[in-house]
Amino acid sequence: MPRIATSLLKKAYTLDRLLPPLLRTTRDLQAAVNELRWLREHVESDPKKAISNELRARSKYLKRSSKEAVSNGLRILHEQLKRNPKKAISRQVVRLVRERAKGTPLQYLLGSEYFGDLELACRPGVLIPRQDTANTISHLAQLVRNPNNKLPPELRVLDLCTGSGCIPLLFGHELRKTRRDITYRMLGVDVSTKALALASDNLAAVQSAPGVSNLFSSPKNANSEAEQGEERQEEGKEGKVIANFLSANVLLSPFVAQSDEYYSTPPLFTALNRAGHPRLWDIVISNPPYISPAAYWKTTTRSVRGFEPTLALVPPPQSSAEPWSSLPWIPPPSAVQLFPRTRDGPPTQQGENGDTFYTPLLSIAALVEAKIVLLEIADAEQAVRVARLGKNMNFDGVEIWREQPDVRDGAPSSTSNSTTPEHGGNGDEEQAEGNQEERSEDTIDGIPIVGAGNARCVVFWRGVGATWLGKE
Ligand SMILES: C[S@@+](CC[C@H](N)C(=O)[O-])C[C@H]1O[C@@H](n2cnc3c(N)ncnc32)[C@H](O)[C@@H]1O
Repeated sequence: MPRIATSLLKKAYTLDRLLPPLLRTTRDLQAAVNELRWLREHVESDPKKAISNELRARSKYLKRSSKEAVSNGLRILHEQLKRNPKKAISRQVVRLVRERAKGTPLQYLLGSEYFGDLELACRPGVLIPRQDTANTISHLAQLVRNPNNKLPPELRVLDLCTGSGCIPLLFGHELRKTRRDITYRMLGVDVSTKALALASDNLAAVQSAPGVSNLFSSPKNANSEAEQGEERQEEGKEGKVIANFLSANVLLSPFVAQSDEYYSTPPLFTALNRAGHPRLWDIVISNPPYISPAAYWKTTTRSVRGFEPTLALVPPPQSSAEPWSSLPWIPPPSAVQLFPRTRDGPPTQQGENGDTFYTPLLSIAALVEAKIVLLEIADAEQAVRVARLGKNMNFDGVEIWREQPDVRDGAPSSTSNSTTPEHGGNGDEEQAEGNQEERSEDTIDGIPIVGAGNARCVVFWRGVGATWLGKE
């Protein structure tokens, strides 16, 4: 990593003495200025928390004193800080700046990130939602919610590997901007208890503050686009929202018994049955762990490696998903070229390990009879491998979406998403290596590719799914 010029550090210091440590992580002065402002605003918005952190920090220094002296000292300090919290606030800002300088993602420090229009809670141990994912989910919802689409009375969306719950919450928020005529049933599935707890908190936050989302807001709170949608509805025909999260391991085949401790979380269909959830789902979405161990070291940033959960990023070895291969619709491995050649010649590093989840996910999609399947992928090579896997699985069509799937010929289409993330990016400006794919050809290996930017997901459809995506 190149060193930061002394002149830049001096300039930063003259602006604010807290900027140089932030500059170490952001590498860019304006980004450091923005982050410092957000951190200050965040601490100032909750002086009570700053005071309690200050008291906790001070109590460490009083360890050797008698219990009585400690409690008296802290009581007096508490009174002082309540009268004048400025000192507690500024010391809390310094603490957060120190954490940030060590590489802690900004979103973990601020406790939230924007995902499309939604501000969702973020906590260590759960992947921070990415803006690229939000773009594809908003685009999918915008296609599906088209008023001309004849949707079922209850549209069911199954999000496998849900993390913070960002995907089904945003999909529902976007869908219900115009389609309040149908019931929206969403189910987010994850193996991580931390993820499921955060997803439930995010759901509760959206439920209790309906003004921030169309998901649970009453028609009166809905924005103008939603109001237009309502005009098309008959009175009293408003659909419900049924939102749930479920603990299950999507790698486990429903037909093979597992005993290992990692597999103590039930397979998906066992969990669905036990909780009384439906077995059939219209749309299956997943942003699974898809980075191979080799690519993990090569392409992820220090901040991601040091602070975000590996469970969310790197799949276990392919053997974990082997039981799925015995299912009749899974092509034999020889039918799928797992290491296609890149444009430069050598086989990609991503390979098998990064692909572990896709066969189980596509198998689940087949079992639940999904009409649309959207799977996030790392790059164009993985997209091609995943598209080939699905091609053997009875879908009517497949295409690859780039990061901005709604951009056609350089300009956003009418379904463009107008969100502006407040905190911006991933909060870590260290450059990860990665091939920047230009918007170029309209097919890769014969598979249509749409939008602008890097390849970001593979979309399959069958039956009525084609109409929902505007293909017919
Ligand atoms: C890449 S993260 C995606 C999180 C979220 N959907 C998003 O887009 O931000 C992958 C998620 O898969 C979960 N996961 C990992 N292995 C799993 C498994 N075998 N079954 C179900 N979920 C799993 C992780 O806990 C993590 O939350």
